[in-house]
Amino acid sequence: MEGIEIQGGRRLAGEVRISGAKNAALPIMAASLLIPGPTRIHNVPRLHDVLTMLELLRLLGVAGDHEERSLKLDARDLVSTEAPYDLVRKMRASVYVLGPLLARFGRARVSLPGGCAWGPRPVDLHIKGMRQLGAKVDLEHGYIVARADQLKGARIPFEKSSVGATGNVMMAATLARGLTRIENAACEPEIVALADFLIAAGARIRGHGTKTIEIEGVDALHPTTFTNIPDRIETGTYLAAGAITGGEIICTGTRPDLLEIVLARFREMGCRVECEGDRIRLVQEGRLRAADVETAVYPGFPTDLQAQFMALLCVAEGIGVIHETIYPDRFTHVPELARLGAEISVHGNVATVRGSRSLQGSPVMSTDIRASSALILGGLVANGTTTVSRIYHIDRGYEAIEEKLSALGADIRRIEVDAPLR
Ligand code: UD1
Repeated sequence: MEGIEIQGGRRLAGEVRISGAKNAALPIMAASLLIPGPTRIHNVPRLHDVLTMLELLRLLGVAGDHEERSLKLDARDLVSTEAPYDLVRKMRASVYVLGPLLARFGRARVSLPGGCAWGPRPVDLHIKGMRQLGAKVDLEHGYIVARADQLKGARIPFEKSSVGATGNVMMAATLARGLTRIENAACEPEIVALADFLIAAGARIRGHGTKTIEIEGVDALHPTTFTNIPDRIETGTYLAAGAITGGEIICTGTRPDLLEIVLARFREMGCRVECEGDRIRLVQEGRLRAADVETAVYPGFPTDLQAQFMALLCVAEGIGVIHETIYPDRFTHVPELARLGAEISVHGNVATVRGSRSLQGSPVMSTDIRASSALILGGLVANGTTTVSRIYHIDRGYEAIEEKLSALGADIRRIEVDAPLR
């Protein structure tokens, strides 16, 4: 099985080109199911999750081509409306096909995803939303089975802000009859990108990026071409690599406006951060200072950067407290960071990190996409060798991470490791 080996202690410096956002590309790919003709999406990252979504779309009958960083999809004729367990359990975002299939074909059979490493992660809001649009939805043998002759616009007040449920309902509502009003909608930039894609394909949507999204149903969407937004989580991760190694990193092809609270936290920790156009430059000299982090829905601090900031706090001066408000159990990286010598205590959804002057390279195991990048960050600054196993998680969400980090001066390579027994 593949792992990543890092010799820590190198200062990173240079420019890194940021890839397209995974969490925008996945729903946009699913949205191509709404369109009876060709869809072109540019700036799509080359990642396992994108390949999994492509595999699912092809299984449904979509013609799909991946050329470099562009995707050509054509959902003119489908052969199936079923998303099987094998694909959905590999990637929860497969659930995004529910809304588009139901809206365009009047039926969908989508496996329930089950839990994940950091908790139950239910899809009840997706199901409730489809029911509110007039679909009949049953749970049968582990599958969500949904049917509707014609979806009808409705008021959909979400009791909790959910990126996935907002996206799924928004896609379904584009072809519903009449007006849908999503209240307490997710404001994440990836939802805005999805709405912009749908609008480019002829959907009538307003209010995206705010808590209330209105969708006026249309009869059909039409072929379109769309350029995906850059990945704000990848951006934050490379900036963190600069911060933790006392380096100087310039992220290019990114969107500083999507990272305001994250950049503020880097500054609070002592980093110099400058933005110009699509570039962010971070310079760190001396030791980082601890800061507190509380994850929240956008524009709050993203839960997908919580693990990486915990890695920073492990070597910062002082004590930093992390409140995880989105996924209370999202701390599977804590025992692995502790293997590198970090001092972290967890009580409920609060982690307290006492910074150490140094970490020690060790074998560690990644448990999810962002936990993997936190372990790599730890390895970059630890004394000696760190090997990160179960690296398939990183390939789900980071394009060519060891190449990008090597180009910045890291001593990092992919190796064969024994499978961990845990
Ligand atoms: C998306 C991101 C993920 C990120 C998360 C939060 C993708 C592919 N994934 O996941 O990387 O960490 O947003 O920013 O875009 N919830 C329910 N019922 C539901 C749906 C969600 O209770 O039906 C809860 C979840 O358990 C969680 C909260 O709502 O506590 C937010 O989850 P949600 O925003 O839906 O996350 P995802 O869309 O799954």
